[in-house]
Amino acid sequence: MIHSTFIDSALIRIFRFRTRGFLRMAESDGAVPPVPREGGCYLYVHIPFCEVLCPFCSFHRVQHCHEAAVRYFAALRAEIWHYQHAGFKFDGVYFGGGTPTTEPDELIETIGLVKRLFGVREISVETNPKDLQPALLGRLREAGVTRLSVGVQSFDDTLLREMERYEKYGSGADTAERIRAAAGMFPTLNVDLIFNQAHQTLESFERDLDLFRSLGANQVSCYPLMTAPSVARRMEGAMGAPDRGRLRQFFRIILRKLQPDFTASSAWCFTKRGQGSDEYIVASENYVGVGSGAFSYLDGTLYATSFSLAAYEERIAQGRTGIVTSHRLSEGDRMRYALLVRMFGLGLDREWARRRHGRKFFWRLWGELRTLELLGAARRNARGWVLTEDGMYWLMLMMSEFLESVNGYRDAMRAHVHEELEAYGKPAPSQTEPHPVPMGVTCMESPAPAGPRLTRT
Ligand SMILES: C[S@@+](CC[C@H](N)C(=O)[O-])C[C@H]1O[C@@H](n2cnc3c(N)ncnc32)[C@H](O)[C@@H]1O
Ligand code: SF4
Repeated sequence: MIHSTFIDSALIRIFRFRTRGFLRMAESDGAVPPVPREGGCYLYVHIPFCEVLCPFCSFHRVQHCHEAAVRYFAALRAEIWHYQHAGFKFDGVYFGGGTPTTEPDELIETIGLVKRLFGVREISVETNPKDLQPALLGRLREAGVTRLSVGVQSFDDTLLREMERYEKYGSGADTAERIRAAAGMFPTLNVDLIFNQAHQTLESFERDLDLFRSLGANQVSCYPLMTAPSVARRMEGAMGAPDRGRLRQFFRIILRKLQPDFTASSAWCFTKRGQGSDEYIVASENYVGVGSGAFSYLDGTLYATSFSLAAYEERIAQGRTGIVTSHRLSEGDRMRYALLVRMFGLGLDREWARRRHGRKFFWRLWGELRTLELLGAARRNARGWVLTEDGMYWLMLMMSEFLESVNGYRDAMRAHVHEELEAYGKPAPSQTEPHPVPMGVTCMESPAPAGPRLTRT
């Protein structure tokens, strides 16, 4: 691999500059967006509830609260109906979070609705290691789940303790046993691992990958540890500050350990040869995100829903979607976004690019494509461009840079409703005090977690 820290940081600077217009979100009215004219469409359903709020996680999530979750799922199903009435069709559905399995009955009812309305066959669900219980797994399989994705992060108990996951989700050995037992129950069983944690040694990560390979799961997503201003302090306090200079060493281990019996589905997702389905971001050109704090991308326009669960529910009750902001990407940005997503998915098909964006795609992105070629990140073949191993490393860096900028947007939106988000999962108030969680929700069944709380979400 030809790498140097200088090239890495130069590339990231150029990438930041060229993609600075992606997230210029402005207020939007909440009407259902137009059905995309071309390309497939995926449905993403966001469930923000979690039993533990991990110190490193910058997703939109709140402390689990049963009553709030039941109301939320009802709003989700109503929003899904809005899209059905507007004529949307989906190729598949992805339930992410947060932790979708915190309310199994509600989740299964929602899966049933999506299947009935859209006839989807690809159903992906995220979960945590503790929820890998035989009864729940059986129900998910019966409901038609085709891909179960487990947030393992690491099998190393020292790191799990730092991540504040050991107590709640179990030791590395417990998690490994549960995954072994679940292997074969779903067409795709994915394990999420995080690399480049400050106190993670290369040897510890190698052991994680070796153990993963022995468990029978057929997909692994290896994410570099990312951050956001809102969690940086708490994350560094609990886990230390990651050193970006080690990223390439970790990435080399991923390639060495997973090849040859796993093939890359994207720059950070690897699937056992001939098995499994991919992550939704690379599987489809368009996606609709429903729920609070969800993003949609439809025909070149980005949309985001409200990060207030209360405001989200209110909008849905008024017959609108949860959308509060949107941004029509410029023509150049639409092309650059397509290039990022396609290359992250390992290659760009020339014919596809010409059909979607016209011949100008190639001269407008001449600089980007030429740079990738000159660096040895992509090479031409008969169909277009394919990513090399060096290219996978750089696309992994660029995608994490992009997701960190999304984290910045999430932070800003969550800061507006900080008090509401903090209130979920707080102990039930006395009769005389007004309850902090809006819309009359009480959380008596969800006592506050033992671990430390977020100082800022
Ligand atoms: C939204 S979580 C859902 C999984 C489930 N809630 C759990 O944690 O067990 C999806 C994945 O995002 C990844 N993730 C969360 N925060 C991250 C961060 N700061 N850096 C890298 N990956 C992160 C984790 O690997 C996690 O499993
Ligand atoms: S990593 Fe998973 S369990 Fe932890 S806070 Fe994020 S979504 Fe919730």
